[in-house]
Amino acid sequence: MKKIWLIGKRGMLAQSLIEEMQKRQVDFVATGKEEVDITSKESLLSFANKGAWSHIINCAAYTQVDLAETEKEKAFALNVLGVEHLIAAAKASRAKLVHISSDYVFDGRKKKPYTEEDLPAPLSVYGQTKREGEIRIQNALSSFVMLRTSWLFGKGENHFVAKILSKMKATHELFVVEDQRGKMTFASDAASVVLDLLPCHGIFHFANAHETSWYEIASFIFESVQKFGLPSLCEKIHPISTIEYPTPAKRPLYSALDTEKVESLLKKRYPSWKEVLFSYLKTKSAE
Ligand SMILES: NC(=O)c1ccc[n+]([C@@H]2O[C@H](COP(=O)([O-])OP(=O)(O)OC[C@H]3O[C@@H](n4cnc5c(N)ncnc54)[C@H](OP(=O)(O)O)[C@@H]3O)[C@@H](O)[C@H]2O)c1
Repeated sequence: MKKIWLIGKRGMLAQSLIEEMQKRQVDFVATGKEEVDITSKESLLSFANKGAWSHIINCAAYTQVDLAETEKEKAFALNVLGVEHLIAAAKASRAKLVHISSDYVFDGRKKKPYTEEDLPAPLSVYGQTKREGEIRIQNALSSFVMLRTSWLFGKGENHFVAKILSKMKATHELFVVEDQRGKMTFASDAASVVLDLLPCHGIFHFANAHETSWYEIASFIFESVQKFGLPSLCEKIHPISTIEYPTPAKRPLYSALDTEKVESLLKKRYPSWKEVLFSYLKTKSAE
C-alpha cells in the first residue's frame, strides 16, 4: 500500500498535519531535515526509493521573511532548488507533490481578495523564491497540489500570536502595524484542507474567514488575555504604520486570499480568525 511522505516534520504546519493524519488514521511517514535534507537531491531520491508513495507533502521551506533579504542563497537553495529536487523525487516515485506557498507572492496592490488567477508579483526575496518554486512545479508536473496560505499560527512559538503573547508578558505598551491587511490561518484548518485536497490538482488559496490587520489581531489578543487571565503587563496597544516599523523585507499592504475555490470544491465553510484565535487562547489559558 502506498503511503504519504511528509517532509519537514518539525515545522508549524507539519505538526498540525501529523496530528490531523493521526486523527484520520492515514498511513504516513514523516521526515525531518536530519533524515532528508531537501537541498540534497541524492538525499531525497534515496529516501524516495525506500517506499511506495502516493503523495509527497512538502512542509520544508526557508520561512524567515526578513532574514531572506540577506540570506538570498539559502532561501533560493530551499525554496527553489529544494523544490526542483522534490519534483525529481515525485517523478521518480510517481507520487503527487503537495506543496505549500504564500500570500507573499502578491504585491498587495489589489483591494479585494486575491484569487488563484491573479498574477503574482512578489516584493521580497522570500516571496520571489516562493514564486519561483511555484513556477518550477507548474512547468514540471502535470498533477500537483499547491496551497497558498497566509499569516499562519498554531503549534510552537514561531508565529505572530505567540510573539505578541510573549511581548505582553514583558512590556507595558506595544506598537503594532495597522496598515497591512490580510487573513490569518489556523494551522489545524490548513492541515485539514491539505488532506482534503489530496485528490485534486492545481493551485488553491486557503485562510480563515475575514480580513484583519496585525493591530486588530494584537488588540483581540489583548482583550482575550484579560478575559482569560493570561499573564500580561501590557496596558495599551498603539497602532502604527508600516513606515514607522521598517523591516528588511517589503511586505504587501494587502494580501487577503480569496478562498471561494477551496470552499466550493470541498463544500465547506471555515471559521473566522476570531473564532479560531479565541479557541487557541482559551486552550492557552487552560495549560
Ligand atoms: N508561517 C507562515 O506565516 C506562512 C505563511 C504563508 C505560507 N507559509 C508556507 O507554509 C509552509 C510551512 O510553513 P511553516 O511556518 O510551518 O514553516 P516552519 O515552521 O518554518 O517549518 C519549516 C521546516 O522546514 C524545515 N527545513 C529547513 N531546512 C530544511 C532542509 N534543508 N531540508 C528539510 N527540511 C528543512 C525546518 O526544519 P528545522 O526545524 O529542523 O530547521 C522546519 O521544520 C512553508 O512553505 C511556508 O512558506 C507559511
